[in-house]
Amino acid sequence: MIEPALAEVLVLARQLAREAGAIQREGYEQAHDIGTKSADVDLVTEVDHACEAHVLAELARRRPGDAVLAEEGGGRGDARAEWRWLVDPLDGTVNYAHGYPCFCVSIGVERRGTRAVGVVYDPLRDELFHAVRGGGAFRNDRPIRVSREAELGRGLFATGFAYDVHTSADDNLAAFGAFVKSARAVRRDGSAALDLCYVACGRFDGYWERKLKPWDVCAGALVLEEAGGRVSDLAGEPMPADGREVVASNGSLHAAMLALLARAR
Ligand code: IPD
Ligand code: CA
Ligand code: CA
Repeated sequence: MIEPALAEVLVLARQLAREAGAIQREGYEQAHDIGTKSADVDLVTEVDHACEAHVLAELARRRPGDAVLAEEGGGRGDARAEWRWLVDPLDGTVNYAHGYPCFCVSIGVERRGTRAVGVVYDPLRDELFHAVRGGGAFRNDRPIRVSREAELGRGLFATGFAYDVHTSADDNLAAFGAFVKSARAVRRDGSAALDLCYVACGRFDGYWERKLKPWDVCAGALVLEEAGGRVSDLAGEPMPADGREVVASNGSLHAAMLALLARAR
């Protein structure tokens, strides 16, 4: 039984993720109004803004006392608020802008600073991942579990590259190379939230990335933990909530991933 206050937050998070997902589905493969942010490769479209505006308007109406941190800048903060919503209105914007069918809405909710609810919705596959702390993880309401793979050489991994990859020497390429040479295969699918959920349901055995943001990781990390997986920083300590380092695995492969990442640094 989920506590009523948490259940209420979960119901709203699921509803908002589905509604924003419908906006994405409607705009998919249409011409987009594409702008750039921190770098030429860091894109934003009118659909990112429309999804964020919808989610934020509903939160203002239904949860006016909660704090909100949203990627495109529409948040509101009250440090005393019990609940904080972390909203990535469209995770996978580069994919979306190119019509590559891999993107989602990610809504995580912290309660007094601890991840409490996570919802990630992929509107094209109509897959909704959700978790509540202590309540397990689900895809379309069916329980999910991480893989049992214990050998790195048989694992399928995912990673991503930060938007400063053209200009920064701290670029994840050595780690990428190390995994390509050691694992069965490595993917770069372009949606951190889905990458985490794919580890949670056993499609990937592990995932790592650096320089992410809180809205990229909050929901997916909870889904993964509740599916029996592990998330940490590069040293194996608790994952920082700001997203600057994430190593995610099925648990069995965590130590091997950390060791390989350490060797590649
Ligand atoms: C990005 C995606 C991508 C990751 C980037 C993120 P956005 O989010 O999650 O997979 O590699 O670092 O910033 O910008 O599409 O919301
Ligand atoms: Ca985004
Ligand atoms: Ca994102």
